[in-house]
Amino acid sequence: MPALAKEKQILLRHIDTPNLSQISVYEEVGGYQAAKKAYGMEPANIIEDVKASGLRGRGGAGFPTGMKWGFVPQNTGKPIYLLCNADESEPGCFKDRVIIEKNPHAIIEGILIAARAINSHKSYIYIRGEYAKGARILQMAIDEAYQRGFLGKNILGTGFDLDLVLHRGAGAYICGEETGLISSLEGKKGQPKLKPPFPAVSGYLGCPTVVNNVETLSTLPWILAHGGKTYATYGTEKSAGTRLFCLSGWVNKPGVYELELGTPLRVLIDELGGGLKDGATLKAVIPGGSSTPPLTPAEVAEATLDFECMAKYGSFLGAGGVIVIPEHVSLLKILETISEFYWDESCGQCTPCREGTGWLFRILKHLHEGRGTSTDIEDLKKTAGNMMGTTICALADAAAMPVLGFLKKFPDEFYAALREREGQ
Ligand SMILES: Cc1cc2nc3c(=O)[nH]c(=O)nc-3n(C[C@H](O)[C@H](O)[C@H](O)COP(=O)(O)O)c2cc1C
Ligand code: SF4
Repeated sequence: MPALAKEKQILLRHIDTPNLSQISVYEEVGGYQAAKKAYGMEPANIIEDVKASGLRGRGGAGFPTGMKWGFVPQNTGKPIYLLCNADESEPGCFKDRVIIEKNPHAIIEGILIAARAINSHKSYIYIRGEYAKGARILQMAIDEAYQRGFLGKNILGTGFDLDLVLHRGAGAYICGEETGLISSLEGKKGQPKLKPPFPAVSGYLGCPTVVNNVETLSTLPWILAHGGKTYATYGTEKSAGTRLFCLSGWVNKPGVYELELGTPLRVLIDELGGGLKDGATLKAVIPGGSSTPPLTPAEVAEATLDFECMAKYGSFLGAGGVIVIPEHVSLLKILETISEFYWDESCGQCTPCREGTGWLFRILKHLHEGRGTSTDIEDLKKTAGNMMGTTICALADAAAMPVLGFLKKFPDEFYAALREREGQ
């Protein structure tokens, strides 16, 4: 599968159109036509179309979008909320930012479609505090959508009401986890809640709530316009469609690229990314953001960018953050940096996470600085192992998985750090 031609792109096709963030320009390239179509459809038919598309959430977990919407109970007497997750804080991931800053009306149109499907009349976009520019652009787009009658009362004369509010976070990674996001939006500390109950049943203010990622929502206008079955012709059987990949690290042309799922990873790194800088040799690739286990050069040579292939190599597509690591960079240093991040961002509710993230960081720092001792590697394994699946949310797993993954695939680098210390 080659790089995706411009005319086949779904998310980035119009991204370079000047002033696309203005509603008049967005409408000139066909914007809001899909929302108009959706508002002439029964909600159940919208859900069926999205199920047929095979779209899976782009926020990290890859949960099927139509199925998630189908879990929302109707007629409970409670309002239903739709929350757009624009917290994008996973190191290595910066794709939502491109949509937010360049094509904000695609997000609003996606929200219109999703709200109609789940019968929600109140929606929030939760944007990370650091995205100040994005927040300004989004707010302008929301104001324009109200003025054009796409938001507010009696949208498009259908009798359907939808209010959309932009909420800025205050710089906590954990508020991207959906229940942490909900706590924060409720005005509480941004701390995750135990599941079940899942947000679809009891979320924001105890009401049925759908949380969807920016990219997931921005894909909906294309699906509604062209049909779910057409979307499913892109990608592979289990990984339908296209998605945005954030290419960073030691490459000539880092950036955000749209590719069909199932495209070889080498196409992204070599063709689009222009290969490794200075002709460096590849050491490893983190395929889906800092929480995902690495791939070896042999795996990179074979890997395709889809959910199935990443699972085969014990990793994940995550939120699409592909980080390229060259031979001359220390994996211990990378892991030390990643571990410090998770330690800093742990919300502190669960002991394995609060304590474990700190232990991982300290041991890795020792090892990297040449102060490691013979028990360090076992301690790393034990600490990380004890963090997996033992906590309220998946941040602890996110911190443990790269450590275990690097230990499994690159053990020599850890043992070499010990040997150096022991002078062997
Ligand atoms: C620690 C942690 C951080 C997360 N951060 C984000 C984030 O910044 N943005 C996001 O969309 N999803 C994030 N997620 C995933 C969300 O919990 C949730 O699955 C997602 O927003 C659902 O949207 P989707 O179905 O469209 O992917 C995070 C999950 C965890 C465990
Ligand atoms: S796993 Fe970590 S971040 Fe998640 S709730 Fe527990 S302490 Fe907080």
